[in-house]
Amino acid sequence: MHNHRTTITQFIIEEQRQIQGATGDFTSLLNDVVTACKVISNLVNHGELVGVLGTAGSENVQGEDQKKLDILSSEIFLSSNEWAGHCAAMASEEMEDIYQIPSRYPKGKYLLTFDPLDGSSNTDVNVSVGTIFSILRCKGDCVNPTAEDFLQRGTEQVAAGYALYGPSTMIVLTTGNGVNGFTLDQNIGEFILTHPGMTIPPDTREFAINASNQRFWEEPVMRYVDECLAGTDGPRKQDFNMRWIASMVAEVHRILTRGGIFMYPLDEKMKAAGREGKLRLMYEANPMALIIEQAGGAATTGRERILDLQPATLHQRVPVILGSRNEVERVTGYHG
Ligand code: F6P
Repeated sequence: MHNHRTTITQFIIEEQRQIQGATGDFTSLLNDVVTACKVISNLVNHGELVGVLGTAGSENVQGEDQKKLDILSSEIFLSSNEWAGHCAAMASEEMEDIYQIPSRYPKGKYLLTFDPLDGSSNTDVNVSVGTIFSILRCKGDCVNPTAEDFLQRGTEQVAAGYALYGPSTMIVLTTGNGVNGFTLDQNIGEFILTHPGMTIPPDTREFAINASNQRFWEEPVMRYVDECLAGTDGPRKQDFNMRWIASMVAEVHRILTRGGIFMYPLDEKMKAAGREGKLRLMYEANPMALIIEQAGGAATTGRERILDLQPATLHQRVPVILGSRNEVERVTGYHG
C-alpha cells in the first residue's frame, strides 16, 4: 500500500486550518519561501559546476566580503517573494535599506527578513551553509513601509525558520507551535516532514564557541568555558566536547538534534570597535531564538532574553548564547 508522507505544503495548510480567519496568505508566503530555499539549495549543491563559488569582489552592509552565492541567494529570495502580494516589504543581510515591493505587484501584510546564505565563508570549502528567515506582521503603513515597521521584538514573529544545505537539504520551521523539520526529497522536489516536534535536551556536554577570540572574552564566558575544559577534574565533574562549524545554521541544527550550547558573546574587541555583538538581531538571532525556545531551549545575550530586545536598527548586532536550557541559564547566571 502507498505510504503517504506529509509534505511541507500539506503541513502548513493543516496548521492554517486551526487558525480562525486565516486567509491563506501566510500559507502562500511560506510556500514561496520554500521555493526560494529549493532554488538556493540547487545552486549550492551544484557549486563550481555552475560557477557560483568564490567572492563577488564587493562588500555587504556589514563590511563583509560578499560571495557570489550571497548575492545570488539574496536575489532569489527577493524574486521568489515579491510578486505574490503577501509581503509589504523585505529586508536582507545583503541590503542596506529595506526592499520595497515593485509597484507592478500588489502589497501584502507581512514583512520578511532573511539572511540568504548564512555561514557563506563555508561554501568554497564545501561545508554546510543555510538560509535564515523571519516573518513579521506589518502593523503600520503597509503601503509605504519603512525600516521602523520592521523594528519589532522577536516575540512578535509570526514564523521563523531556516534551510540547511548539508548532506541533505532541510527546512526547520516554527509558527509558534513547536518546531518541525522537513527533508528535501530531491526525486520529487518536495520537503517531507521527517522531524516532527523537535526538542532540545535541557542538559548537554557539548559547547560551540570560536576559541580564537578567547583573549577578548568577558569573565563570565571565560569562567564557563574554563569549567567545561576542566572536565571531570573541575567543578562540573564531567568532560565536555567542543564543536565550531562557523555556520550558525549547522550549529543550531546540531543543537536541535542532540543538544548543546552555542555562543557568540560580547567581547572586549567588539566593545573597543563600538560593536554590540557579531550576529544580527533581526534575521539571525531572533529567528534562531524563536526556534530554540519553541524546542524547549533558551536564548539570551548573556544578560537578557533575545526575544525581548527592542530592536533599534535593521542591522543591529547582538551577543548570542543559545541552546540547552540549563547551560544557557548557567552562562546567563554567571553574567550576574
Ligand atoms: O555571519 C554569521 C556567521 O557566519 C555564523 O553563521 C557563524 O556562526 C559565525 O558567523 C562564524 O563566525 P567566525 O568566522 O567568527 O567563526
